[in-house]
Order: sequence, then structure tokens, then C-alpha cells
Amino acid sequence: FMSRMPIVGGNWKMNAGNGTTKQSVVELVEGLNAAPKPSSGCEVFVAVPYIYLDSVSSTIDKSFKVSAQNMYKEAKGAFTGEISGEMLMDMGISTVIIGHSERRDIFGETDALLGAKISKALSLGMRVVACCGEHKEEREAGTTMDVLVPQLEAIVANTEDWSNLVIAYEPVWAIGTGLTATPEQAQDTHAKIREWLASKIGTTADGVRIQYGGSVNDKNAAELAKAPDIDGFLVGGASLKAGPFSTIYGVF
Ligand code: G3P
Repeated sequence: FMSRMPIVGGNWKMNAGNGTTKQSVVELVEGLNAAPKPSSGCEVFVAVPYIYLDSVSSTIDKSFKVSAQNMYKEAKGAFTGEISGEMLMDMGISTVIIGHSERRDIFGETDALLGAKISKALSLGMRVVACCGEHKEEREAGTTMDVLVPQLEAIVANTEDWSNLVIAYEPVWAIGTGLTATPEQAQDTHAKIREWLASKIGTTADGVRIQYGGSVNDKNAAELAKAPDIDGFLVGGASLKAGPFSTIYGVF
């Protein structure tokens, strides 16, 4: 059994901290800088909208890493509205979330595209947080793993060195709904994901960190964190305020 350092991310999504202004970003960063620091045994990042990456990187305490929420698979060119991994790395941003369910469901991103993004990001030496998750109907129909497997296959097919790959399991029905997976539900799915991974990559699967995401908050984090296969969280709404977010990473 390889020990896995917990990793907690705050995914701000399309929120400038608690508002839509530069000032609301400054306020959140000030709050985080004043909050209790992450323990040395826990990695913490904030994934901020592209236009704030530079200012947040230069003002946030160094105990937080700064992450992008997406990137494109090509280095440069005629791809209006996109940002490349090369550009992120040049700005000192070496962490990226890929394949969030909002990218899949709202922006139509496919496993083929996400696989190409993962491959590119890893080749640049970036830390990749690759997301997977099932919808409510799929869970209710008992097809959770049938849905997760193709998503995981796209990750496995594009990952050679697993040291920079983190999986985020985010059941879509739990995102932004207040309906957190129970610790048992989350643990059960995390264990199945790891078991499936082991069937593909052997004992390397023991070292792969799997974050849980979906309505994690300062009240439920401690209980979820006890599950042996939950190696951290990807937090949306509760990462927009320093108090709750610091309580969440503080459980590790
Ligand atoms: O990526 C984090 C996420 O999708 C969960 O969002 O608001 O339910 O914590 P939320």
C-alpha cells in the first residue's frame, strides 16, 4: 500500500470569488492568505478563471497552488477563445482540471478530446486533475461503472506516468445540489474505480489519488475524509469563502 498525499482543490468555476469583479477575487485571496495554512501533509490548489490566474498567482500565499479549469490540446493557432497548456506553463500554471462534467455536458467535450488534452498536459509536465462521474438516472439504473469506465479508459489510454495524474470522481447528481454522496456511496465508487484501474495498470493504482467532488462542505468533509479510498476533495461552492474552504482542507 502506497501512501497517497491528500489533495484538495477549490474549483471556482465561473465565479470571481464571491462575485464578478477583480475586487471580489482580491477579497477571497486575502481571506485565504489569512486563513489557517494547509498542513504539510496536504496539497491544496485553487482553480480560478483564466483572466485571474496571473493576479491570483502573484498574490496568493505560496502554500496554495494555482490551477486552470481547462485548456486546449494544441499549442497555438486559430482556436478562438481557447488557451493552451504551453501558455499556462509559461505563466507558471502547472495544474489543470480536465473533463469536468460541466465541460462535458454544457460544452460537449468528448472522451476523445479530453484524452488528447490529458496527453498534452502530461507531456508538458503538468499536474492533471481528470474528472469522471455519472448522472442521476445512471446511478439509479445501477449503471454507474458502465458510465465511468469509458471516461476512465480515455484517462488510462493517455497516461504513461501516473505521478502527475489525479482522478476526481464527481457524481453529477451531487454537484451543486447539496445532495452529497454518503461516505459509503463515495467510498464504494472510489474503491471500484481503483479496482478497475488496478486491472489496467496493476499496483500503480494504489498510488493514484482519487478526489471526491459534489457538495463537499465544512460540515461533511471530515466524515468523507475517513473513507480509505477518498484522497481529497474537489470543492465548488464551498471554495468561494475562505472559512469553509480552510475547514475542508483542514480535515487532512
Ligand atoms: O468541481 C467541483 C464541483 O463540481 C463540485 O461543486 O459546488 O457541488 O461543491 P459543488
